This record gives sequence, C-alpha cells and structure tokens, in this order.
Amino acid sequence: MTTATDRFGLAGPVIEISGLHKSFGERPVLKGIDLTVNAGDVVCVIGPSGSGKSTLLRCVNLLEQPTAGSIRLLGVEVTDPDVDIDQVRTHVGMVFQSFNLFPHKTVLGNLTLAQRKVLGRSEAEASAVAMRNLEHVGLADRAESYPAQLSGGQQQRVAIARSLSMDPAMMLFDEPTSALDPELVGDVLAVMRDLAESGMTMMVVTHEMAFAREVGDRVVFMDDGQIMEEGPAAQVIGAPTTERARVFLERVLHPTAVDDSQLGQTEPARPGDPDFRPPDGTGHVPLTVR
Ligand SMILES: Nc1ncnc2c1ncn2[C@@H]1O[C@H](COP(=O)(O)OP(=O)(O)O)[C@@H](O)[C@H]1O
Ligand SMILES: [Mg+2]
Repeated sequence: MTTATDRFGLAGPVIEISGLHKSFGERPVLKGIDLTVNAGDVVCVIGPSGSGKSTLLRCVNLLEQPTAGSIRLLGVEVTDPDVDIDQVRTHVGMVFQSFNLFPHKTVLGNLTLAQRKVLGRSEAEASAVAMRNLEHVGLADRAESYPAQLSGGQQQRVAIARSLSMDPAMMLFDEPTSALDPELVGDVLAVMRDLAESGMTMMVVTHEMAFAREVGDRVVFMDDGQIMEEGPAAQVIGAPTTERARVFLERVLHPTAVDDSQLGQTEPARPGDPDFRPPDGTGHVPLTVR
C-alpha cells in the first residue's frame, strides 16, 4: 500500500498557500492569501461572515479552483493541471458544519464506505480502522447505530472519525460546532483537541475563541478576502492590532454587550450578575469536559 509519504515528499510545510486569489464571476472573494501551515500546526481561522474563510478551505481541498496563485500540499503543487486531484484530495480530511452522514447506513457503514471504494481496503481492514477511530472519538459502542439515533454532537464526532479513517495527512474543519446545541459543543472540541495533541496538522475555521486560544498554535483573522492579522492566539485574540479585528472580537466575545447609553446603566456588571464576564475574555465554551 502506498502512503502519503511515498507519494509526497515529507520535507517542508504541509500546506503552502501563496498569492491565492479566487473570484466568483466578477466578484473577488480571496484577494491574495499567503499562509504556511507546518506539520503538526493547528491554525485557527476567524473572521466575519462572508470574509472568505470557507472559500479558503475549499480551495485547499480543491473543491474550488483558485483563480490565481499557488497551493502546495506536502510539497506538491496541486493547482498544476497534471496533478491527480482525486488522489491529492484523499490526503485532505474535511469536516463541515453539516455532518453529511448517509442516513440509511449504520455508523460503521458510514466509516467503511469510502475506505473500501476509494482506498480499496477489504471489509475487515476498513472495519478495524473504523473501530479504532470510533474509539478515539468515544463512540465505539455506537457502531451499529444509525445517524438519526445520535445527537448532533455524536454525529459530528462520527464525521470526524470517518475523515480520520482515510488516514489524512491534514484535517480541515469548517465551523464544525456551529450547528450544535451549546451543551454538545464541548465534546466535539475535546475530540479536536485530542487530535491536535496527537500531532495532526489542522486548519480550523471557528468562532470558539476558547478553543482557538487553548489549542491553536496560530490564529489568522480574515476580513474581506484578506488576512488582516496572523500570530499566536494570545496575540491575535488578546491584543489585536487592527480596528476590524477588535470590533469582530468584541462582538464574538461579548455577543450580548450593549452600549451603556442604550441601557441607561452606569454600574459595570459584577461577579454574580448575569452580564458579568471575567476580565480575561476567553469566551464561554466549556472545553474541559473530561
Ligand atoms: N459558489 C459561490 N458562488 C458565488 N459566490 C460565492 C460562492 N461561494 C461563496 N461565495 C461568496 O464569497 C464570499 C465569501 O464566502 P465564504 O467563503 O463562504 O465566507 P465565510 O466562510 O467567511 O463566511 C461571500 O460573499 C459569498 O457569498
Ligand atoms: Mg463559512
């Protein structure tokens, strides 16, 4: 069996994006993105809706064809017309907001399908890989369940296990917890944190600032198709240098904050008040779930 290392050189960055432009018709959506993700890096991408975050991930996964610029994955220029896109894509795991599980297949069936069809694994081998990955996401006991019998959080963990079963060299996450009820978010983030700790190279579009701070090696703030800020999480989230990032972070970290003048309030909220937020401003997500 050939592995990622047979087909790709291992030296150098895992993801190298340079001068990436993407337009839909006349409309520019990515306006010159440069970004390098090294092996084992976790890069969190934040930014307002419509800033191009999904388009960026979709270009990396070749679901969108870049208009200009280059993308190298494990040293291979994937925008080269001679490259076998399907083969490259098998090395890139992608998890979306919607889980896209087959409703008429069991969890195990969902995890073995692409392994057999795309990687040519036997039923036995695919099942063994699937069970190992279900263990990792804490759902080995649900292998025979159907997606509808699982919570949204469990379905998303199944979707992550399905991606991992393809042995990807990198994982892309596009707002994986945005569709979940708040009490289910922590379990999914915990799985992603474990994955990051295991050394997986990850690009994560997320609004979960606590996750970005705790797990992200770097945070990228995008606005209007450009990277406006990039750096360690504590720097970009804790001390953004651009006004646009400051405004965005204020909205995300304090979604219920209203101008004092609108409320006629003069007293700041204190511990115990419903509006009180601790001064570190790390957001609201309970990450430590186990
Ligand atoms: N397939 C498409 N065709 C036309 N416009 C698109 C398409 N996909 C995205 N866009 C536009 O590109 C912009 C960026 O979208 P997107 O990458 O989804 O932003 P984000 O993920 O940051 O919310 C949006 O204005 C969106 O309407
Ligand atoms: Mg998006």
